[in-house]
Amino acid sequence: MMMSRPENIAKKSDDNRQTLQGSPPDVPKLMPGGNYIKIGRDSAKSTYLLFAPSAEEVGVLAKYLSIFQNHGVNLLHIESRPSTKMPDLYEFMVECAPTGNIGDAIQDIKNSSQYLQIISRDYKDNEDTVPWFPRRIRDLDRFANQILSYGAELDADHPGFTDPVYRERRKYFADIAYHYKHGQKLPHVDYTQEEIDTWGKVYRQLIALYPKYACKEHNHVFPLLQENCGYREDNIPQLEDVSNFLKDCTGFTLRPVAGLLSSRDFLAGLAFRVFHSTQYIRHPSKPYYTPEPDVCHELLGHAPLFADPAFAQFSQEIGLASLGAPDEYIEKLATCFWFTVEFGLCREKDGLKAYGAGLLSSFGELRHALSDKPEYRAFEPPKTAVQKYPITEYQPVYYVAESFEDAKERMIKYALTIPKSFGVRYNAYTQSIEVLDSKPQIERLVSTIGSEMTILINSLKKL
Ligand SMILES: [Fe+2]
Repeated sequence: MMMSRPENIAKKSDDNRQTLQGSPPDVPKLMPGGNYIKIGRDSAKSTYLLFAPSAEEVGVLAKYLSIFQNHGVNLLHIESRPSTKMPDLYEFMVECAPTGNIGDAIQDIKNSSQYLQIISRDYKDNEDTVPWFPRRIRDLDRFANQILSYGAELDADHPGFTDPVYRERRKYFADIAYHYKHGQKLPHVDYTQEEIDTWGKVYRQLIALYPKYACKEHNHVFPLLQENCGYREDNIPQLEDVSNFLKDCTGFTLRPVAGLLSSRDFLAGLAFRVFHSTQYIRHPSKPYYTPEPDVCHELLGHAPLFADPAFAQFSQEIGLASLGAPDEYIEKLATCFWFTVEFGLCREKDGLKAYGAGLLSSFGELRHALSDKPEYRAFEPPKTAVQKYPITEYQPVYYVAESFEDAKERMIKYALTIPKSFGVRYNAYTQSIEVLDSKPQIERLVSTIGSEMTILINSLKKL
């Protein structure tokens, strides 16, 4: 997902000119802000408070509840748990509905707590507040209710706009993604012959280009997908099979999505090595054009690279950097994503190659990107993050990574410049994000790293 460019294989035909409605014939019509990642305000207005009572006393919970009651704040959820910051203490986590006077309630809680952390979508109202982000992998289920635009809604110039059968089909795909919950099997789809034919046309054209234009990692993984996941001209692979394959390789998984996610939500998924993916296919009348990401873009462009360990880690670094970041940095990280995961090039011994999904799923732009027309610049996150880019034509500038490892190191360095009062770490055992903002947590992390160092030293001795 998140490819603000259509996988247009634009040809200078009258047919295309008609579709593009006034755009130059080679220029695809694009969705502003891009695919399934779009800057926007989220609808969820809950505020989360984490606080530890200043003294253990009987009835302390009742005392806090009365504070909320006095200020007319409704609570949607409350739980107590061991404090992550201070051993021997426990903390409350409450979810407050946007009712009453939360500001005054927060002040009262603050006055009678060891510490108070505020996590809110509406964080700009309070400087101490961190934007909400998912802590556990199942928190990603909440994104389904925060879709900015439902995937069954088509713009008037969409090739399928006047096709009731296609629209019905899009609704089917949006609905199954909307009802998907973490832990369930990914929805199996019986694609129609017409849909398979559309896939076949795109597939045939692209695989002819990969040996020459795709990066070595993509060319290494692609035959494995053919072997293990049903990548064939006459078969659209199932997300479940591809997701299981990726999980075996790098721990990445796919998750169906019903519509447009905000950049913040989309990037947050990457922190858990979760990629939000569409499952529908473009309209059959325009097999080489789509105004939004579809299953061709996801499975041919994105999926192969997520099987590469270095690329997977690079993608996760962007996601981790986004957690709790201010809005302006979310935009910068989304721009870095654009110029790497979507439109990135990398240097190999025999020249530049493509690794961005927007290139590897677009016959036209793949050739354009590696022609003598565009400008190439080195991937440097501080500069790349503020580069403007067109969304209605091929990119005039592409950023070149020396390697995924190098790109990852640069992203980690860049992430350090994002103003945050805490560090985050993904715990793959619990599939959760650990927020590191206290000494005991850091000490535990040092101890974990110490154990791994012991394994490393012992292994080195045996070599
Ligand atoms: Fe994409």
